[in-house]
Amino acid sequence: MDIRTYPDPVLKAHAKPVENIDGELQGLIDRMLEIMYGAPGIGLAANQVGVLKRVIVFDKSPREEGRDPAVLINPEIVVGEDTIRWEEACLSVVDFSAEVVRRAQVTVRGFDRYEKPVDMEAEELLAVCLQHEIDHLNGTLFIDHISSLKRALYKKKLKKREKET
Ligand code: NI
Repeated sequence: MDIRTYPDPVLKAHAKPVENIDGELQGLIDRMLEIMYGAPGIGLAANQVGVLKRVIVFDKSPREEGRDPAVLINPEIVVGEDTIRWEEACLSVVDFSAEVVRRAQVTVRGFDRYEKPVDMEAEELLAVCLQHEIDHLNGTLFIDHISSLKRALYKKKLKKREKET
C-alpha cells in the first residue's frame, strides 16, 4: 500500500460509506496510521492509499512524543462557521502548497473505530485538516480550490519534473 499521487484517478473518485467496521477495516486503519506517521503527515484519507471507503485518520502533531491518533469513519461536516485562509499541502500533491479558504470552525460527525458515534468540534488547523480529508473522500483535492492559473502552474511544474526523472 503506497500513497497515491496526483493525477492518479483514485484521488478523483467518490469513496463509499463503510457498512461494517470489521477486521479488514481495522487493518486498513492501522495501515493508514502507519503510512501517515511514516510520511509524516497530519491526515490521510483512504482514497490516498487506493481504497474507496469513507475513512480518515489524523493527528495534529504527528512528529511529537505522545501521539494522538484519531480515526473517523463516514465523517460528515454538520456545522461550519466563519472562514479562514490556510496554507495547505497534501501527501498526494507532491512539492506544492497553496492558500485555501476554509471554514474556521466545524463540527464533524462520524464513528470511531469501535463503532462509537462521535461529534467532534474543531477549529483552525484541525478544522482545516478535517475539511481537507473529507474532501478527499469526495474526490476533491486542495488544488481544486485554488485559481485555475495557480493550478495550471502546478501542472506545468509536474510535467517538467516528470521529464527530468
Ligand atoms: Ni490531502
